[in-house]
Amino acid sequence: MTEPRRRVWVSQPLFDDITSRLQEHFDVVATAEVAGHSAPQVAAALSTCDGALVTLNERIGAAEIAVAPRLRAIANVGVGYDNLDIPALARAGVVATNTPDVLTGTTADFGFALLMATARRITEAERWLREGRWLQWSFQSLLGADLHGSTLGILGMGRIGQGIARRASGFDMRVLYHNRKPLPEATERACRAAHAGFEELLRQADHLLLALPYSRENHHLIDAAALAQMKPTATLVNIARGGLIDEDALADALGDARLAAAGLDVFENEPAVNPRLLALRNVVLTPHIASGTLATRRAMVSLAVDNLIAALGCGPNAGAPPNRIGA
Ligand code: 8YV
Repeated sequence: MTEPRRRVWVSQPLFDDITSRLQEHFDVVATAEVAGHSAPQVAAALSTCDGALVTLNERIGAAEIAVAPRLRAIANVGVGYDNLDIPALARAGVVATNTPDVLTGTTADFGFALLMATARRITEAERWLREGRWLQWSFQSLLGADLHGSTLGILGMGRIGQGIARRASGFDMRVLYHNRKPLPEATERACRAAHAGFEELLRQADHLLLALPYSRENHHLIDAAALAQMKPTATLVNIARGGLIDEDALADALGDARLAAAGLDVFENEPAVNPRLLALRNVVLTPHIASGTLATRRAMVSLAVDNLIAALGCGPNAGAPPNRIGA
C-alpha cells in the first residue's frame, strides 16, 4: 500500500515557479493572496500539515504547535527567526530552518543605502522639494552629516554586520563593532573593524547601525539610557528588528534634538508604525525591504524550499537540511 502524500503549507505567495518544486514530493496548500494570518489561522493551517514554508508574518509558538500533531518541519524564508519559538519546536520534534548567506550582500547594501539616506537627509530633502519649498537655493539648508572620516558603530557583527563594515571601509570610515564574542583577528583585519564595549560604541559612534538578531534578552536594548549616551549629532540605523529599540524613547530623543536622525527599516509592531515616528522629519522610514531585490528574494525562497524538502526526508539532502537552526 502506498503512503498518503504528506502535506505542506506555503503561507504567502512566494514565487510559484519556485515553490512548485514542493509538488514533486508533497501536496501543497498554497496561499493565493498576501495575508496577515492571525494566530488561529496559523494554527488551523498547521493542524493538518507535515511541514510549512513561512515568513516573518507567521508567528509559531507552543499554542500553534500543540494543535499540529503531524508537523515535522518549518522552513522560515528569512535569516531572522524571532517569529519562531525554537525551544518549543525542538521539544515537539519539529525541525526549523532559515535562509542565511543568500541575503547577506543585498541586506548590507540596503543598510548602507539607509545610512546614507539618513545621514544626508535624502528623503527629507526630496519631500521638501516636492512640497514646492525650494524657492531660493540656500547655503545653509538641509545640511547633513559626513560618512567619510566618521566613526561607524556596528552592533552585531555577523555576516551582515561584516558586509556593512567592508562597505564602510570603502567610504573611508573608521569602524567599531560590538558583539558578544569579538571576531578572530584575521576577520577583524579583513573588515578593518575594531571591537568595542557596548557603552563605548554608543559614545563613539557618529553613526550606529543595528545588525544583530533579536531575542527576548535584547528587547529595547536601545532604550532612553542607551540613547542618552549617544552623540546628539549621531545617526541611528536599524535593519535588524524593531523590538531592539524603544520607539517612544527614540521619538523623544529625535524630537528634542538629542539625536540627529534615524533610519528605520523595521518596527516593533509591523506593519503598524509608531505615529510619533511618522510625525518626525528627521527619520527615514522604509517597510522592511532590506533583503528586497528580485534575485535575493528568489534565492531565499529557493533555499527555503530545499530546506523543507530535506527536513521532511526527501531530495538530495534528505534528513540533513542545509540550514537547520541550532544544528
Ligand atoms: C525577510 C528579514 O524579508 O531575513 C530576515 O530576517 O528580515 C527579511 O530579509 C523576512 O524575514 C521574510 O520573512
